[in-house]
Amino acid sequence: MQKIIVLSASVRTGKKSNRVALFFEQYIKKHQLADVELLDLEDYDFPIFHERLRFLKNPSEKLIEFSARIKAADGIVLVTPEYNGGYPASLKNAVDVLYDEWKRKPIAISTVSDGPFGGNNVITSIQYSLWKIGALTVPALFPVARVMENYDEHGVPANEAFTGKLAHHFLEELKWYMEAVARMKN
Ligand SMILES: Cc1cc2nc3c(=O)[nH]c(=O)nc-3n(C[C@H](O)[C@H](O)[C@H](O)COP(=O)(O)O)c2cc1C
Repeated sequence: MQKIIVLSASVRTGKKSNRVALFFEQYIKKHQLADVELLDLEDYDFPIFHERLRFLKNPSEKLIEFSARIKAADGIVLVTPEYNGGYPASLKNAVDVLYDEWKRKPIAISTVSDGPFGGNNVITSIQYSLWKIGALTVPALFPVARVMENYDEHGVPANEAFTGKLAHHFLEELKWYMEAVARMKN
């Protein structure tokens, strides 16, 4: 089975976008779409970027482990909040510190806000950064508006049928790219 990492980008105290990350972890598990692992950038608590991993003399164990997990994943569901029209520094930090790990990595992006627009201002900036570093961003999007009304703290959506339908399409697109990359490797 292929492996999907759900990457929860927010490190904010009391964060809410991780509800969507929890939803994806559970949805992928329940529907047996892939082996799934949730990585929470808050757990890594990386220091602000000083240099890329490959140039660090004494990289932390955490960073080495993070790199290995990203490298081993066949695809990534990236869940990011919108902060002031962009994505959080925690995510930029994690993108910039790696390099080869992102190359040709299929990444499906879910943007989250507590307002009505579903974090849609984030899309162009995060897609551009990921494209620039060689990742394969999946065109399907998964914007989440009013996250606190639409997902509970365990990641259960208020409207399971509707959310499941959107998630199915979103993840099908990710899986298409994952399979395409796997075929090219063979
Ligand atoms: C610093 C900061 C800036 C924000 N800027 C925006 C914004 O530009 N647009 C928006 O829709 N929501 C904005 N919000 C609200 C977030 O979308 C909301 O807090 C959401 O829950 C953030 O995800 P998090 O809880 O995982 O940190 C902002 C929140 C913070 C903390």
